[in-house]
Amino acid sequence: MARMELNGIAKAYGTVEVMRDIDLVIEDGEFVVLVGPSGCGKSTLLRMIAGLEPITAGDFTIDGERMNEVPPRERDIAMVFQSYALYPHMDVARNMGFSMEIARAPAAERQGRVAAAARTLGLDTLLARLPRALSGGQRQRVAMGRAIVRDPRAFLFDEPLSNLDAALRVEMRLEIARLHRKLGATMVYVTHDQVEAMTLADRIVVLEAGRIRQIGAPLDLYERPANRFVAQFIGSPTMNILPVTAEAGAVRLADGSRIEMPQARPGASHLGIRPEHLEVTDPGEGQIVGTADVVEHLGSDTNIAVSVAGIGALMVRRQGTATLRPGDRIGLGIAPGKAHLFDAEGRALRPAPAD
Ligand SMILES: Nc1ncnc2c1ncn2[C@@H]1O[C@H](COP(=O)(O)OP(=O)(O)O)[C@@H](O)[C@H]1O
Ligand SMILES: [Mg+2]
Repeated sequence: MARMELNGIAKAYGTVEVMRDIDLVIEDGEFVVLVGPSGCGKSTLLRMIAGLEPITAGDFTIDGERMNEVPPRERDIAMVFQSYALYPHMDVARNMGFSMEIARAPAAERQGRVAAAARTLGLDTLLARLPRALSGGQRQRVAMGRAIVRDPRAFLFDEPLSNLDAALRVEMRLEIARLHRKLGATMVYVTHDQVEAMTLADRIVVLEAGRIRQIGAPLDLYERPANRFVAQFIGSPTMNILPVTAEAGAVRLADGSRIEMPQARPGASHLGIRPEHLEVTDPGEGQIVGTADVVEHLGSDTNIAVSVAGIGALMVRRQGTATLRPGDRIGLGIAPGKAHLFDAEGRALRPAPAD
């Protein structure tokens, strides 16, 4: 069991405050991903949960018990880092079982747990190898195995896949998802990669400059971002943001075109539309007409950078291959139900709930 509660957590280094007002409940067995750009405080928050970094203000509890002053060893949490930090002179089995060796656990129990963890991670045949004879992915698996052997009540991961190449990252991502399903343990996972966050998380916590900007299930954040920061951080290519002037029930784009939107009201300053939600039409029929500038063929999708007079560059994503070429005229449509509106402070404006 590990239900974590963070209330008003803040962190300062000397007089420099790097985190504040962190309120977050992580339910027992939940997979929570902390995501945000480099330097936003992800590692700091994780290290405070682990006990590796003192908490400056606020309360942190696990299963109702205050943890602020409890040393890391007594928190019963295992942490997996980006750098695997394996002992180079110990073989895989000893690396994995070392925490139990230090704790003077009986050898039979230790070997049993190492063997079970090795089976879970597909390391059975590598137990006698030294770390230097392993690939990056295998080393990362050993680091996870070491955490599993401890049978902790929660796992913390700090960008565990960043050192792996793209194909291996996808493979290990699936493995971590399976591991979570199998163990059912509480997991808190830090990444700057929104794809990892979207694919792994039960809930995502988006951080910016030491503050929480939104907490929600992956598709909540995608469909209902609370602000421009989250809107542009989640999704790839990133959401297009267009300045607008607003009236009640409609907005006007910088090129003069008018778009009906139920949530439009004075104060709306920007419209957001994801590249995959811009509709491509004949130039004669589009709400907006532009010129294809760059066409990127990804195979499964095509990304088209379109330049529109009076508006600037818009990114469009179409499923499959497109026959467009640079220089072609292209019409674009914005479906009101797919567009987002933001006020001058970047807060999302939502339609009034239907009654
Ligand atoms: N030991 C430290 N002393 C002073 N500032 C630090 C220290 N560690 C981290 N910071 C600062 O705290 C902020 C958050 O850092 P960090 O948690 O490592 O970010 P992230 O993991 O999201 O990239 C950064 O501005 C960083 O410079
Ligand atoms: Mg970090």
